[in-house]
Amino acid sequence: MAKHKIVCLPGDGIGKVVLKEAIHILDAAGFEADYVEGDIGWEFWCTEGNPLPQRTLDLIEEHKIGLFGAITSKPKDEAFEELAPELQKKGLVYSSPIVGLRQHFGLDICFRPCRTYTGNPLNFIRRGTNDTIEEPEVDVAIFRQNTEGLYGGVEWSNPPSQVYDALMTHPKFSQNFGDAPVEEVSVSTRIFTKKYTERIIRAAFEHAKKYNYKSVTVCEKPNVIRETSGMMYKMAQQIQTADFHGIELWNTNIDAQMMWLTKNPENYGVIVAGNMFGDIVSDGFAGLIGGLGFACSAQYNPETGIGVFEPTHGSAPKYADYPVSIVNPIAMVESACMMLDFVDEQNIAGNIRKAIAEVVVEGKVQTYDMAKMSGRADVVEKGAASTAQMADAIIDKL
Ligand code: NAI
Ligand code: MG
Repeated sequence: MAKHKIVCLPGDGIGKVVLKEAIHILDAAGFEADYVEGDIGWEFWCTEGNPLPQRTLDLIEEHKIGLFGAITSKPKDEAFEELAPELQKKGLVYSSPIVGLRQHFGLDICFRPCRTYTGNPLNFIRRGTNDTIEEPEVDVAIFRQNTEGLYGGVEWSNPPSQVYDALMTHPKFSQNFGDAPVEEVSVSTRIFTKKYTERIIRAAFEHAKKYNYKSVTVCEKPNVIRETSGMMYKMAQQIQTADFHGIELWNTNIDAQMMWLTKNPENYGVIVAGNMFGDIVSDGFAGLIGGLGFACSAQYNPETGIGVFEPTHGSAPKYADYPVSIVNPIAMVESACMMLDFVDEQNIAGNIRKAIAEVVVEGKVQTYDMAKMSGRADVVEKGAASTAQMADAIIDKL
């Protein structure tokens, strides 16, 4: 029996392709694992009315580690129309299986590193003094609270009377919204709890300590969103004072941060934020290091040791049917490296990252995004590498 057992969750569209290539690379790098495939995604919604079947949850519960490609989500009405006719009368409502996975297993820590690969043509550049061109090196680790906040799902349109009455007891609600008819009111809550706020802040500081980052930045908006952002920042101050004096604590507002990150991205180290702002700021930094073809992520629960590793991109359905797949597998492969770190195979992860770095700096093999082409089916004829060719180039370096 192999040393590790991994649940692979290909999902939909390009998720299937990039996951397959990532596993080739893991094999070539000497990672000893057995893979069991878990059903997830659109097909299972259409045929079973559940994009995340219980058998898949059981598999992850048993083996603890999931390597996930991407899924397709569609709006409620469209989802209903594609449901098998015999299931349409059952009152089923589609919801995203990846959000479902996070909630089911309480994968509250989401970690998204954004690190420059030297020679990546997609690296952010800026104009320096005397019109010089500068390419700042980005090395940012974003910790996003993954289960609470604006994505917690506690929301209503035309809220029930208990909720509406409770809201009316808040002077700001009665003053600012009291005149609106209840059926015209929609509410999405932003709930933070101390337990999970503390967990994400500690994860950020511990990472900073372990990898010698000089600062942790809380990226929220405490001056306006006083209760939730305010609680997070205050708690970060307490944790830093008690346990991490060697690391500086910075505080930025999400809006200003999105402006600053193109000005001085090299100044930031570890960033910690709630669910929505963490999602925004991680996409912002990912844009500086190559975008969706490079953006990777880990999400895990430190108590249970369950972790799911996935690229940030989705299923890119328009590319899924090309006869030769053109998408960049690096985001998926980097996510697999995060899985290797998680299961204590840092050496193998290091070797794969080094192989990617060599391919990128050499510049001979580039997928269409790196070659700055628009993503058409004929890009490979025009000199871009296919998904498989990029994976092979990485394997050659290994
Ligand atoms: P997407 O990330 O699938 O694709 C957007 C565009 O980014 C693509 O058209 C392509 O130009 C580029 N792109 C994505 N991955 C790339 C790669 N590996 N290499 C090179 N270029 C790449 O986002 P989109 O089009 O908004 O959503 C498509 C479907 O994916 C939707 O059904 C959406 O709900 C779902 N989705 C799923 C996610 C997940 O599984 N975690 C995350 C985001 C979207
Ligand atoms: Mg996102």
